[in-house]
Amino acid sequence: MKKVGLVGWRGMVGSVLLERMQQENDFALIDTTFFTTSQTGQLGPDLAGNAKPLLDATDVDALAQMDIIITCQGGDYTKEVYPQLRATGWDGFWIDAASALRMADDSIIVLDPVNKDVIEQGLEQGVKTFVGGNCTVSLMLLALGGLFEQDLIEWVSPMTYQAASGAGARNMKELIAQMGSIHASVADKLADPQAAILEIDKLVTEQIAASDLPQEQFGVPLAGSLIPWIDVPMPSGQSKEEWKAQVEANKILGSSKQPVPVDGLCVRIGAMRCHSQAMTIKLREDISVEKIEQILASHNEWVKVIPNERDITATDLTPVKVTGTLSIPIGRIRKLTMGPEYISAFTVGDQLLWGAAEPLRRMLRIIVA
Ligand code: HSE
Repeated sequence: MKKVGLVGWRGMVGSVLLERMQQENDFALIDTTFFTTSQTGQLGPDLAGNAKPLLDATDVDALAQMDIIITCQGGDYTKEVYPQLRATGWDGFWIDAASALRMADDSIIVLDPVNKDVIEQGLEQGVKTFVGGNCTVSLMLLALGGLFEQDLIEWVSPMTYQAASGAGARNMKELIAQMGSIHASVADKLADPQAAILEIDKLVTEQIAASDLPQEQFGVPLAGSLIPWIDVPMPSGQSKEEWKAQVEANKILGSSKQPVPVDGLCVRIGAMRCHSQAMTIKLREDISVEKIEQILASHNEWVKVIPNERDITATDLTPVKVTGTLSIPIGRIRKLTMGPEYISAFTVGDQLLWGAAEPLRRMLRIIVA
Protein backbone atom coordinates (compact mmCIF):
# COMPACT_ATOMS: atom_id res chain seq x y z
CA MET A 1 0.00 0.00 0.00
CA LYS A 2 1.31 3.43 -0.91
CA LYS A 3 1.96 5.78 2.00
CA VAL A 4 -0.04 8.95 1.39
CA GLY A 5 0.39 12.16 3.38
CA LEU A 6 -2.51 14.61 3.45
CA VAL A 7 -1.88 18.30 4.17
CA GLY A 8 -4.50 21.05 4.40
CA TRP A 9 -7.40 18.62 4.74
CA ARG A 10 -9.28 20.80 7.24
CA GLY A 11 -9.79 23.80 4.92
CA MET A 12 -12.66 24.15 2.48
CA VAL A 13 -11.11 22.37 -0.52
CA GLY A 14 -9.45 19.81 1.75
CA SER A 15 -12.74 19.00 3.47
CA VAL A 16 -14.48 18.50 0.13
CA LEU A 17 -11.59 16.27 -0.94
CA LEU A 18 -11.84 14.15 2.22
CA GLU A 19 -15.58 13.78 1.78
CA ARG A 20 -15.15 12.64 -1.82
CA MET A 21 -12.35 10.23 -0.85
CA GLN A 22 -14.64 8.68 1.76
CA GLN A 23 -17.54 8.43 -0.69
CA GLU A 24 -15.32 6.67 -3.22
CA ASN A 25 -13.63 4.48 -0.62
CA ASP A 26 -10.19 5.78 -1.61
CA PHE A 27 -8.83 5.35 1.91
CA ALA A 28 -9.13 1.57 1.61
CA LEU A 29 -6.43 1.68 -1.07
CA ILE A 30 -3.84 3.77 0.73
CA ASP A 31 -1.97 4.03 4.01
CA THR A 32 -2.90 7.56 5.08
CA THR A 33 -0.98 9.93 7.35
CA PHE A 34 -2.51 13.28 8.24
CA PHE A 35 -0.23 16.28 8.59
CA THR A 36 -0.99 19.61 10.24
CA THR A 37 0.53 23.08 10.34
CA SER A 38 -0.91 23.90 13.77
CA GLN A 39 -1.94 20.83 15.79
CA THR A 40 1.00 18.43 15.78
CA GLY A 41 0.45 15.50 18.13
CA GLN A 42 -3.32 15.80 18.35
CA LEU A 43 -5.37 12.89 17.08
CA GLY A 44 -6.18 12.99 13.39
CA PRO A 45 -9.47 12.02 11.76
CA ASP A 46 -10.83 8.59 12.51
CA LEU A 47 -11.06 6.82 9.20
CA ALA A 48 -12.01 3.19 9.63
CA GLY A 49 -10.99 3.25 13.28
CA ASN A 50 -7.36 4.17 12.70
CA ALA A 51 -6.97 7.67 14.11
CA LYS A 52 -3.26 8.49 14.49
CA PRO A 53 -1.51 11.55 15.92
CA LEU A 54 -1.08 14.38 13.41
CA LEU A 55 2.44 14.96 12.11
CA ASP A 56 4.05 18.35 11.52
CA ALA A 57 3.46 19.44 7.92
CA THR A 58 6.75 21.34 7.88
CA ASP A 59 8.77 18.33 9.09
CA VAL A 60 10.58 17.48 5.86
CA ASP A 61 11.92 14.19 7.21
CA ALA A 62 8.41 13.01 8.10
CA LEU A 63 7.07 14.13 4.72
CA ALA A 64 9.93 12.31 2.99
CA GLN A 65 8.64 9.01 4.38
CA MET A 66 5.57 9.32 2.14
CA ASP A 67 5.21 7.89 -1.37
CA ILE A 68 2.57 10.48 -2.24
CA ILE A 69 1.69 13.85 -0.71
CA ILE A 70 -1.60 15.59 -1.42
CA THR A 71 -1.81 19.19 -0.31
CA CYS A 72 -4.69 21.64 -0.17
CA GLN A 73 -2.76 23.85 2.24
CA GLY A 74 -2.23 26.70 -0.24
CA GLY A 75 0.52 28.29 -2.30
CA ASP A 76 2.60 29.69 0.57
CA TYR A 77 2.96 26.23 2.07
CA THR A 78 3.92 24.76 -1.28
CA LYS A 79 6.51 27.46 -1.91
CA GLU A 80 8.04 26.92 1.52
CA VAL A 81 8.04 23.14 1.82
CA TYR A 82 8.16 21.67 -1.70
CA PRO A 83 11.68 22.90 -2.63
CA GLN A 84 13.08 21.74 0.74
CA LEU A 85 11.49 18.33 0.31
CA ARG A 86 12.74 17.86 -3.25
CA ALA A 87 16.18 19.08 -2.11
CA THR A 88 16.42 16.04 0.20
CA GLY A 89 16.21 13.86 -2.91
CA TRP A 90 12.61 12.87 -2.19
CA ASP A 91 11.23 11.33 -5.35
CA GLY A 92 7.59 10.84 -4.38
CA PHE A 93 4.44 12.14 -6.03
CA TRP A 94 3.34 15.64 -5.06
CA ILE A 95 -0.35 16.35 -5.80
CA ASP A 96 -1.24 19.98 -5.17
CA ALA A 97 -4.42 22.07 -5.24
CA ALA A 98 -2.51 25.39 -5.16
CA SER A 99 -1.42 27.25 -8.27
CA ALA A 100 2.24 27.73 -7.21
CA LEU A 101 3.67 24.88 -9.31
CA ARG A 102 1.06 24.82 -12.09
CA MET A 103 3.12 26.44 -14.79
CA ALA A 104 6.44 24.80 -13.79
CA ASP A 105 8.05 22.90 -16.69
CA ASP A 106 8.24 19.69 -14.69
CA SER A 107 4.61 19.67 -13.52
CA ILE A 108 1.40 18.51 -15.16
CA ILE A 109 -2.01 20.09 -14.61
CA VAL A 110 -4.40 17.23 -13.93
CA LEU A 111 -7.87 16.90 -15.40
CA ASP A 112 -7.92 13.28 -16.49
CA PRO A 113 -11.24 13.19 -18.37
CA VAL A 114 -9.61 15.77 -20.64
CA ASN A 115 -5.88 15.02 -20.52
CA LYS A 116 -5.42 11.38 -19.51
CA ASP A 117 -2.96 11.03 -22.41
CA VAL A 118 -0.85 13.94 -21.16
CA ILE A 119 -0.88 12.48 -17.62
CA GLU A 120 0.07 8.99 -18.77
CA GLN A 121 2.84 10.26 -20.98
CA GLY A 122 4.11 12.32 -18.05
CA LEU A 123 4.07 9.31 -15.74
CA GLU A 124 6.07 7.31 -18.29
CA GLN A 125 8.59 10.15 -18.50
CA GLY A 126 8.94 10.23 -14.71
CA VAL A 127 6.94 13.37 -13.90
CA LYS A 128 6.24 13.42 -10.16
CA THR A 129 4.44 16.73 -9.65
CA PHE A 130 0.74 16.98 -10.48
CA VAL A 131 -1.29 20.11 -9.89
CA GLY A 132 -5.03 20.79 -9.99
CA GLY A 133 -6.01 23.46 -12.53
CA ASN A 134 -7.70 26.78 -11.99
CA CYS A 135 -11.36 26.11 -11.32
CA THR A 136 -12.84 28.08 -14.23
CA VAL A 137 -10.37 26.50 -16.65
CA SER A 138 -11.08 22.94 -15.51
CA LEU A 139 -14.85 23.51 -15.60
CA MET A 140 -14.67 25.03 -19.10
CA LEU A 141 -12.56 22.15 -20.43
CA LEU A 142 -14.88 19.50 -19.01
CA ALA A 143 -17.81 21.25 -20.70
CA LEU A 144 -16.07 21.83 -24.06
CA GLY A 145 -13.94 18.66 -23.96
CA GLY A 146 -15.52 17.13 -27.06
CA LEU A 147 -14.87 20.15 -29.25
CA PHE A 148 -11.29 20.53 -28.01
CA GLU A 149 -10.59 16.82 -28.45
CA GLN A 150 -11.58 17.04 -32.11
CA ASP A 151 -9.61 20.27 -32.54
CA LEU A 152 -12.75 22.10 -33.65
CA ILE A 153 -12.17 25.29 -31.64
CA GLU A 154 -10.28 28.17 -33.27
CA TRP A 155 -10.73 30.38 -30.23
CA VAL A 156 -13.02 30.77 -27.24
CA SER A 157 -13.93 33.80 -25.17
CA PRO A 158 -15.27 32.74 -21.75
CA MET A 159 -17.00 35.48 -19.77
CA THR A 160 -17.23 34.17 -16.23
CA TYR A 161 -19.73 34.50 -13.41
CA GLN A 162 -17.66 33.26 -10.46
CA ALA A 163 -18.95 32.26 -7.06
CA ALA A 164 -17.82 33.57 -3.68
CA SER A 165 -16.20 30.23 -2.76
CA GLY A 166 -13.41 30.85 -5.28
CA ALA A 167 -12.28 33.70 -3.04
CA GLY A 168 -12.41 31.54 0.12
CA ALA A 169 -14.56 30.35 2.99
CA ARG A 170 -14.59 33.73 4.74
CA ASN A 171 -15.82 35.37 1.55
CA MET A 172 -18.75 32.96 1.37
CA LYS A 173 -19.73 33.92 4.91
CA GLU A 174 -19.36 37.59 4.06
CA LEU A 175 -21.65 37.28 1.05
CA ILE A 176 -24.38 35.83 3.27
CA ALA A 177 -23.76 38.51 5.91
CA GLN A 178 -24.12 41.18 3.22
CA MET A 179 -27.39 39.63 2.05
CA GLY A 180 -28.64 39.54 5.65
CA SER A 181 -27.67 43.12 6.32
CA ILE A 182 -29.44 44.29 3.17
CA HIS A 183 -32.57 42.32 3.99
CA ALA A 184 -32.61 43.57 7.56
CA SER A 185 -32.56 47.17 6.36
CA VAL A 186 -35.98 46.74 4.71
CA ALA A 187 -37.50 43.72 6.49
CA ASP A 188 -40.33 45.81 7.99
CA LYS A 189 -41.18 47.36 4.62
CA LEU A 190 -41.18 43.96 2.88
CA ALA A 191 -43.75 42.81 5.40
CA ASP A 192 -45.98 45.76 4.51
CA PRO A 193 -47.90 45.11 1.24
CA GLN A 194 -48.46 48.87 0.88
CA ALA A 195 -44.75 49.76 0.94
CA ALA A 196 -43.59 51.43 -2.30
CA ILE A 197 -40.85 49.57 -4.21
CA LEU A 198 -38.91 52.75 -4.98
CA GLU A 199 -38.68 53.50 -1.27
CA ILE A 200 -37.46 49.93 -0.62
CA ASP A 201 -34.96 50.23 -3.47
CA LYS A 202 -33.66 53.52 -2.06
CA LEU A 203 -33.08 51.96 1.37
CA VAL A 204 -31.47 48.87 -0.16
CA THR A 205 -29.17 51.03 -2.27
CA GLU A 206 -28.20 53.02 0.81
CA GLN A 207 -27.50 49.86 2.80
CA ILE A 208 -25.37 48.31 0.02
CA ALA A 209 -23.30 51.50 0.03
CA ALA A 210 -23.30 51.83 3.83
CA SER A 211 -20.02 51.62 5.71
CA ASP A 212 -21.45 49.03 8.12
CA LEU A 213 -22.09 46.52 5.31
CA PRO A 214 -19.68 43.64 6.08
CA GLN A 215 -16.95 43.88 3.41
CA GLU A 216 -13.62 43.08 5.03
CA GLN A 217 -12.97 40.17 2.66
CA PHE A 218 -14.19 41.46 -0.68
CA GLY A 219 -13.42 45.11 0.08
CA VAL A 220 -16.63 46.13 -1.68
CA PRO A 221 -20.28 44.98 -1.75
CA LEU A 222 -20.93 41.77 -3.68
CA ALA A 223 -24.55 41.10 -2.69
CA GLY A 224 -26.81 43.20 -4.88
CA SER A 225 -23.79 44.04 -7.02
CA LEU A 226 -20.85 42.29 -8.73
CA ILE A 227 -17.08 42.67 -9.01
CA PRO A 228 -15.70 42.64 -12.56
CA TRP A 229 -12.12 41.85 -11.47
CA ILE A 230 -10.66 38.67 -9.94
CA ASP A 231 -7.07 38.39 -8.66
CA VAL A 232 -4.13 40.71 -9.31
CA PRO A 233 -3.50 42.77 -12.48
CA MET A 234 -1.17 41.52 -15.22
CA PRO A 235 0.85 43.82 -17.53
CA SER A 236 -1.44 42.75 -20.42
CA GLY A 237 -4.44 44.46 -18.80
CA GLN A 238 -5.88 41.06 -17.98
CA SER A 239 -6.59 40.08 -14.41
CA LYS A 240 -4.53 37.05 -13.34
CA GLU A 241 -7.68 34.92 -13.42
CA GLU A 242 -8.16 35.94 -17.06
CA TRP A 243 -4.50 35.29 -17.89
CA LYS A 244 -4.73 31.77 -16.51
CA ALA A 245 -7.45 30.75 -18.98
CA GLN A 246 -5.25 30.47 -22.06
CA VAL A 247 -1.98 29.34 -20.47
CA GLU A 248 -3.56 26.69 -18.27
CA ALA A 249 -6.08 25.42 -20.80
CA ASN A 250 -3.35 24.88 -23.36
CA LYS A 251 -1.01 23.30 -20.83
CA ILE A 252 -3.77 20.86 -19.85
CA LEU A 253 -4.50 20.08 -23.49
CA GLY A 254 -0.81 19.70 -24.32
CA SER A 255 -1.08 22.48 -26.92
CA SER A 256 1.11 25.16 -25.33
CA LYS A 257 3.39 25.33 -28.41
CA GLN A 258 0.45 26.26 -30.66
CA PRO A 259 -2.02 27.64 -28.15
CA VAL A 260 -5.71 28.00 -28.85
CA PRO A 261 -6.59 31.59 -27.86
CA VAL A 262 -8.76 31.59 -24.73
CA ASP A 263 -9.54 35.03 -23.31
CA GLY A 264 -12.44 36.85 -21.68
CA LEU A 265 -13.47 38.81 -18.61
CA CYS A 266 -13.75 37.21 -15.16
CA VAL A 267 -16.48 38.52 -12.89
CA ARG A 268 -17.33 37.71 -9.26
CA ILE A 269 -21.05 37.36 -8.63
CA GLY A 270 -23.13 36.49 -5.57
CA ALA A 271 -23.35 32.71 -6.13
CA MET A 272 -22.06 30.42 -3.39
CA ARG A 273 -19.87 27.70 -4.97
CA CYS A 274 -20.70 27.26 -8.64
CA HIS A 275 -18.83 29.11 -11.34
CA SER A 276 -20.75 29.83 -14.55
CA GLN A 277 -19.32 30.90 -17.90
CA ALA A 278 -20.88 32.36 -21.02
CA MET A 279 -18.71 31.40 -23.97
CA THR A 280 -18.39 32.79 -27.45
CA ILE A 281 -16.72 30.15 -29.58
CA LYS A 282 -15.27 30.41 -33.07
CA LEU A 283 -15.28 26.95 -34.62
CA ARG A 284 -12.84 25.92 -37.31
CA GLU A 285 -15.76 24.91 -39.52
CA ASP A 286 -19.51 25.24 -39.85
CA ILE A 287 -21.00 22.36 -37.85
CA SER A 288 -24.70 21.94 -37.09
CA VAL A 289 -25.91 22.61 -33.55
CA GLU A 290 -27.15 19.02 -33.41
CA LYS A 291 -23.69 17.68 -34.23
CA ILE A 292 -22.05 20.06 -31.74
CA GLU A 293 -24.41 18.83 -29.02
CA GLN A 294 -23.59 15.24 -29.88
CA ILE A 295 -19.84 15.86 -29.78
CA LEU A 296 -20.10 17.65 -26.42
CA ALA A 297 -22.40 15.10 -24.80
CA SER A 298 -20.30 12.09 -25.76
CA HIS A 299 -17.01 13.38 -24.37
CA ASN A 300 -17.30 12.42 -20.70
CA GLU A 301 -19.86 11.09 -18.27
CA TRP A 302 -20.37 14.35 -16.37
CA VAL A 303 -21.14 16.80 -19.16
CA LYS A 304 -24.82 17.16 -19.92
CA VAL A 305 -26.25 19.11 -22.84
CA ILE A 306 -29.24 21.23 -21.89
CA PRO A 307 -31.53 21.96 -24.84
CA ASN A 308 -31.73 25.63 -25.76
CA GLU A 309 -35.20 25.98 -24.27
CA ARG A 310 -36.37 28.44 -21.68
CA ASP A 311 -37.82 26.28 -18.90
CA ILE A 312 -35.15 23.61 -18.65
CA THR A 313 -32.43 26.26 -18.97
CA ALA A 314 -33.88 28.23 -16.07
CA THR A 315 -34.04 25.15 -13.85
CA ASP A 316 -31.10 22.97 -14.91
CA LEU A 317 -28.39 25.36 -16.12
CA THR A 318 -27.94 27.15 -12.81
CA PRO A 319 -25.68 27.17 -9.76
CA VAL A 320 -28.57 26.15 -7.54
CA LYS A 321 -29.08 22.97 -9.58
CA VAL A 322 -25.42 22.03 -9.88
CA THR A 323 -24.12 22.87 -6.41
CA GLY A 324 -22.68 19.89 -4.53
CA THR A 325 -22.70 17.67 -7.64
CA LEU A 326 -20.17 16.61 -10.27
CA SER A 327 -22.59 17.48 -13.07
CA ILE A 328 -21.34 19.82 -15.82
CA PRO A 329 -24.36 21.11 -17.73
CA ILE A 330 -23.79 23.08 -20.92
CA GLY A 331 -26.59 24.83 -22.76
CA ARG A 332 -27.59 28.01 -24.63
CA ILE A 333 -25.85 26.42 -27.61
CA ARG A 334 -26.85 28.30 -30.72
CA LYS A 335 -25.36 29.92 -33.78
CA LEU A 336 -24.54 33.60 -33.37
CA THR A 337 -25.40 36.18 -35.99
CA MET A 338 -21.68 36.81 -36.60
CA GLY A 339 -21.54 33.79 -38.92
CA PRO A 340 -22.05 30.01 -39.10
CA GLU A 341 -18.78 29.22 -37.29
CA TYR A 342 -19.69 31.34 -34.27
CA ILE A 343 -21.61 29.73 -31.43
CA SER A 344 -22.61 30.63 -27.91
CA ALA A 345 -22.71 28.27 -24.95
CA PHE A 346 -23.24 28.59 -21.20
CA THR A 347 -21.89 26.19 -18.61
CA VAL A 348 -22.01 25.77 -14.83
CA GLY A 349 -19.84 23.69 -12.51
CA ASP A 350 -19.17 23.20 -8.81
CA GLN A 351 -15.99 25.12 -8.13
CA LEU A 352 -15.02 22.96 -5.13
CA LEU A 353 -15.65 19.57 -6.76
CA TRP A 354 -14.50 19.42 -10.40
CA GLY A 355 -13.02 22.88 -9.91
CA ALA A 356 -10.68 21.78 -7.12
CA ALA A 357 -10.93 18.50 -5.19
CA GLU A 358 -12.04 15.91 -7.73
CA PRO A 359 -9.10 16.04 -10.17
CA LEU A 360 -6.72 15.54 -7.20
CA ARG A 361 -8.34 12.36 -5.88
CA ARG A 362 -8.61 10.99 -9.40
CA MET A 363 -4.88 11.59 -9.88
CA LEU A 364 -4.25 9.67 -6.67
CA ARG A 365 -6.34 6.80 -8.09
CA ILE A 366 -4.30 6.81 -11.30
CA ILE A 367 -1.06 6.52 -9.33
CA VAL A 368 -2.22 3.77 -6.99
CA ALA A 369 -4.03 1.77 -9.71
N1 HSE B 1 -9.34 31.81 -8.61
C1 HSE B 1 -10.64 31.24 -8.53
C2 HSE B 1 -11.63 32.25 -8.05
C3 HSE B 1 -10.67 30.07 -7.61
O1 HSE B 1 -11.21 33.26 -7.49
O2 HSE B 1 -12.82 32.03 -8.20
C4 HSE B 1 -9.60 29.07 -7.67
O3 HSE B 1 -9.27 28.54 -8.91
